[in-house]
Amino acid sequence: MIMKELIIQTKVKVCTADELSAADKEVVDAARAATANSYAVYSHFNVGAAVRLADGLIVSGTNQENAAYPSGLCAERTTIFWANSQYPSQPVKVLAIAARNDSGELDVPIPPCGACRQVILETEKRYNTPIRIILYGAKECYVVEDGIRALLPLSFDSAFLD
Ligand code: THU
Repeated sequence: MIMKELIIQTKVKVCTADELSAADKEVVDAARAATANSYAVYSHFNVGAAVRLADGLIVSGTNQENAAYPSGLCAERTTIFWANSQYPSQPVKVLAIAARNDSGELDVPIPPCGACRQVILETEKRYNTPIRIILYGAKECYVVEDGIRALLPLSFDSAFLD
């Protein structure tokens, strides 16, 4: 039997950090700077994230590890949860992610893990607005213009609970 196929396409723009708009570069630079505050004593993988809120404010955060490994949290979620806790009325418009290890900044764009993608989706739904996601790499960056669904196809959200 020949089954019907569902082809799912994802559009990701590729550029260098210099080619980003000045406003987006500011968010990326906040994520890069935040890597210095990461608590990554176990993995030595220091991740920084930054969001720009609708009013223009940039908030950053980092991964926070724990000797009981699953108790730690990724940079994306510490950042989003902090931003949403402090500024619950401000939609998140842009999210940038950067990382460094003991050798320095990563050359390649750092993608969010699956759990963070799910939290980004919830944030988009909460504020009813897509988030532009910028994955920083020293050699090249990926820009996901239209929101997390491009990175999380067939996603589960609150619509299924209705
Ligand atoms: N990590 C993040 O903070 N964000 C990601 O997108 C990927 C992974 C953290 C979790 C852990 O502290 C370390 O990086 C290694 O997995």
